[in-house]
Order: sequence, then structure tokens, then C-alpha cells
Amino acid sequence: MGKGKSFPEHVAIIMDGNGRWAQRRGLPRSAGHLAGAKNIPRVVKAAMEAGIKTLTVYAFSTENWKRPVDEVGFLMKLIPRFCANQLKAMLKNNIRLRTIGRTDDLPEFAKTALLDAIEKTKNNTAFTLNIALSYGGRAEITDAVNKILNDPNRPQGPLTEQDVAKYLYAPDLPDPDLMIRTSGEMRLSNFMLWELSYSEFFVTPTHWPDFNKDTLQEALDSYAGRNRRFGDVKA
Ligand code: IPE
Ligand code: IPE
Ligand code: MG
Repeated sequence: MGKGKSFPEHVAIIMDGNGRWAQRRGLPRSAGHLAGAKNIPRVVKAAMEAGIKTLTVYAFSTENWKRPVDEVGFLMKLIPRFCANQLKAMLKNNIRLRTIGRTDDLPEFAKTALLDAIEKTKNNTAFTLNIALSYGGRAEITDAVNKILNDPNRPQGPLTEQDVAKYLYAPDLPDPDLMIRTSGEMRLSNFMLWELSYSEFFVTPTHWPDFNKDTLQEALDSYAGRNRRFGDVKA
């Protein structure tokens, strides 16, 4: 698959619709979350094959803590399960795992599993899977401001956008070129407010557990036809 300007290096996905996917099948919401978690490696494989270098997936927002305690508990238990199931494949396929978000707020068992997988995959270079967990765009910017205030080595004088960006959760990653939202909602739900400033959006009615390489290709085809002007005037 060809790369270049019409091809996104970093794709971000709001993995929405697990609940609706389950409801449609007469299953509990947890079944949708399980199917959703199982879909991540399939989409990673498709993204790698397509030539994408970095995939950020929104798995749990700062607002998702409001959900019923059983649902939150189920989602938290999926984290170590995902790490245990995927570590071997990530090592074999040269995939680096990382996270963004207030991951300190996750339960200890989830943090331990994540830290272990992050450490073991840290030198992998073919692909980066970045999972947004206890992530909020406003939280990220607020955390950046507090890091700046607490940094004795912060730049002196008025900060530039580049200075501020260095305090975000993953300053070394390029901004997403393309943001995909599954399940049809036309909103950001507090996802990557800073980084998505100039990203192209693609919303599909497909629920996340059904999102596959064909839906990804639809998004990539749509992206290839976009005219990214960044505020400039270009043909
Ligand atoms: C996305 O699916 C997963 C999380 C937000 C954790 P939802 O659980 O939001 O599914 P819907 O939107 O209710 O269908
Ligand atoms: C966004 O989905 C968060 C994730 C996919 C993790 P939500 O289902 O939480 O968003 P809203 O509530 O519909 O805006
Ligand atoms: Mg939802």
C-alpha cells in the first residue's frame, strides 16, 4: 500500500458502539465490550498491513467512570486480559504498546499488566498501539498546565504552542492525520482536543466490534480524497 501525503501515518479511533452491538443481539453490554476488545488486534493487523505507523484507540474516557460499577469493573478486567492475550503477538510483530490518560486512576491489577506489556514492547519499532485509558482531552490539557506549573525547568517567558505540546501525554507522537468514530455519533466526546485540531474526520455507522479491514479501507479512501488546507489557500 502506498504512503505519502494522501496516506495517514497516525490514525485515531473512537471505538464506540459496543453496547448497541450487544443490544442488537440481545446480549448484555459486557458481551459487546468483550467483542470490542477482541477486535483491537484484528484492526491493528489491518492497520499494519495498510501501512499505518501509529494507531491510537479511545478505550475508556474520564467520563466513562460514571457508568455502573459492574460495567466499569468488567472493562477494567479486560485490560490485563488484553495484555496477557496480546503480549506474544505484539513481541512477534514488533508492536509497541503505550497508553495515554490518567492511568494512575486505573486499578492496581490493570496498571501492573499494562506497565509490564509497555516495558516488554518498548523497543518495538514496526507499529505503535496507543491506548487511551481514563483519557480526557480536557484532563490532558489540564494535566499539561499543572506539569508546566510544577516544572522548575520550564521555558521562561510566554509559552509557545510547541512548548505546551511538550507537556501532553505523548509529545513524541505526531498528531493524528485521521480520526475515525464508529457507531455514528458526530461528536468528539472529549477525545484528543489538542491533537485533533487539524485531523480529518470519518464517521461510520458500523459498531466497533464489526469494524474491520474493509471499513478501515473506506476511511483511508475517504482520507485520500481530502484536501488538507491547514487554513492556507491551496487547490
Ligand atoms: C464504547 O462502546 C466502549 C466504551 C465507551 C467503554 P459503548 O459502551 O459506549 O457502546 P454504546 O455507545 O453504548 O453503544
Ligand atoms: C466515547 O464513547 C468514549 C470511548 C469510546 C472510550 P462514549 O460512548 O463514552 O461517548 P458518549 O457518551 O456517547 O459521548
Ligand atoms: Mg458509546
